Amino acid sequence: MKVFNSVSDYISSRSGFEGPVGFVPTMGALHSGHRSLIVRSIEENQTTVVSIYVNPMQFDNENDLVAYPETLVEDQATLEALGVDVLVLPTYDQIYGDGFRYQVLENLFSHELCGAHRDGHFTGVLTVVMKLLNIVRPQKAYFGEKDYQQYQLISDMVDAFFMDVEIVPCTIVRESDGLALSSRNLNLDSCARAKAPLIHELISNVSSDIEVAQALSEAGFDVDYVETHDGRRFVAAKIGENPVVRLIDNIPVAMP
Ligand code: PAJ
Repeated sequence: MKVFNSVSDYISSRSGFEGPVGFVPTMGALHSGHRSLIVRSIEENQTTVVSIYVNPMQFDNENDLVAYPETLVEDQATLEALGVDVLVLPTYDQIYGDGFRYQVLENLFSHELCGAHRDGHFTGVLTVVMKLLNIVRPQKAYFGEKDYQQYQLISDMVDAFFMDVEIVPCTIVRESDGLALSSRNLNLDSCARAKAPLIHELISNVSSDIEVAQALSEAGFDVDYVETHDGRRFVAAKIGENPVVRLIDNIPVAMP
């Protein structure tokens, strides 16, 4: 696996890659959810590029950024073992040489669901993903449906800006008890971890959004939202203390 610590070195080498190129952007602390995207990219492309970059501009909460797990040594070993061709590890200065003067704004869906609770979050996500796609120049880029709103906004951005890349959605990978895999699960204490599967259980079995929210609150969650949009039911709720962990999930639902 070729590791690039420098964006400009990556850009100079890009024309030598055997195509098609698949790309999986991540923030590290890799788990089987990330692995499923990477395996799919390896199956569908000749070269697979993974990036690890914890993007400060998408964190609306300083504590969440500080608590974000970092497991770079293990991550590199995981990527080598999977057969990833290229790892890009950009730095803040390389990504935000403009001081975040230029930003990608979306003015509708980015204000709903997670966007209504995380100020500026999707501007940070869309801006970094636009930059990463322009750096990496893949034919296909892979995103998990675990972050369905993120996937939808990125897919719409690529259409809106006529970007020459296919955005591929990938199904959610779950623990055997239903909890959607997430890097933030590492921060759940045993009590919070025991309660966390309730999210998937309730959205799968209780038909009213309000009743799901009530049941989660009664179980000790601080609920951001439970909402159904366009045939998908979305939930975000916080659990635990020190750190508080925000969990999100979604499932497709039959339209009435
Ligand atoms: P991160 O949370 O590291 O996730 C990287 C990719 O893995 C995202 O596309 C996410 O949806 C996917 N993923 C995470 N958990 C998953 C699961 N349980 N099942 C399937 N896919 C899963 O999402 C980000 O990073 C960042 O916002 C990023 C796109 C890298 C921009 O900074």
